Amino acid sequence: MTAAVVVGVGASLPQRVVTNAELAGYLDTSDEWIRSRTGIGARRWVDPGVSTGDLATRAGELALRSAGVGRVDAVVVATTTPDRLCPATAPEVATRLGLTGISAHDVNAVCTGFLYGLSSAVGLIAAGNAESVLMIGAETFSTIIDPKDRGTAVIFADGAGALVLRAGAPDEPGAVGPLVLGSDGGLADLIQIPAGGSRQRSSGAAAEPEDYYFRMRGREVYRHAVERMASSAMQALGRAGLTMSDIDKFVPHQANARISAAVGERLGLQERQTVSNVECVGNTAAASIGILLAEATAAGGIRAGQRLLLTAFGGGLTWGATTLVWPEVTAHIAAPPRAAIAAAS
Ligand code: COA
Repeated sequence: MTAAVVVGVGASLPQRVVTNAELAGYLDTSDEWIRSRTGIGARRWVDPGVSTGDLATRAGELALRSAGVGRVDAVVVATTTPDRLCPATAPEVATRLGLTGISAHDVNAVCTGFLYGLSSAVGLIAAGNAESVLMIGAETFSTIIDPKDRGTAVIFADGAGALVLRAGAPDEPGAVGPLVLGSDGGLADLIQIPAGGSRQRSSGAAAEPEDYYFRMRGREVYRHAVERMASSAMQALGRAGLTMSDIDKFVPHQANARISAAVGERLGLQERQTVSNVECVGNTAAASIGILLAEATAAGGIRAGQRLLLTAFGGGLTWGATTLVWPEVTAHIAAPPRAAIAAAS
């Protein structure tokens, strides 16, 4: 059986750091509320004119550099915030990377996008349709959040994280383990953009400007997120023939610190095993696991040879999990220096 093996990791974050104090300047919220409910201290939002494709291209370029390759056979972009509704963002990203002509498509699984995108990359490789894939999770949530909605504006953020995968053996470091993915479309209304799609357009109903913004029923989402992340993580372990004692580091989608802690606790993991960057990055949806892998690799939070457990949850509803032994890679990151963020917050 051919496995998909991680050989490169990169990330790109916008220069602009948005602190809780800045948000509290125009929203009825506070640094104390945001930190205690979400663990977020600051997030990055793009400057006007910067798109998801721009962040994706930069992260892709850095992941290719990390892998030491100039070419791949396919590009997958996981995003909720494509550059345009049509066409997909991936073909343009591929061309900007000098890869015109290769397979390129988008995946939309909202905050589970990184794992659904990974599954797509694994499938391309396992089926023999690609020897190597660049998989990028990229978002500009600042372009779809309602600036007046304190329930979402404080949580969501922008960024891109990318992996390069190549065909290899299942027992190699970097080989992606069995992926467990799931969905429940009966709960689609919990996380949605109500207008702009065929359902609203076809109904002939006029949409209000606010209907084009991202909406989330936070409290209900919280409950489902904890349950689904924990259960899919357990299933992924089972499918890989592992137990929790085999796991060195837990790499959850950075929804918020409370969700990560609750899932970690349910799984019986020690707090020190959980890797996190939500405090400085916020929730970057499909990009979050990629950015976290890059930042934690660069900071020494995850090291070659450690077995990782990845899990995510998002709109759809969707969820998923997988395991892998982290390979020897150098992460390449384009981001404002941490010192600048600390000074700003
Ligand atoms: N600042 C201050 N107060 C806020 C606020 C903010 N940014 N957002 C909501 N509130 C208020 C509410 O209006 C409510 O006030 P009320 O009691 O007067 O009605 C109160 O805080 C509690 O609201 P609630 O939504 O019940 O808070 P919560 O404890 O559930 O925390 C979330 C809200 C969004 C942080 C929490 O539900 C959550 O983390 N949900 C999951 C969201 C998420 O991570 N989604 C991504 C999944 S991929």
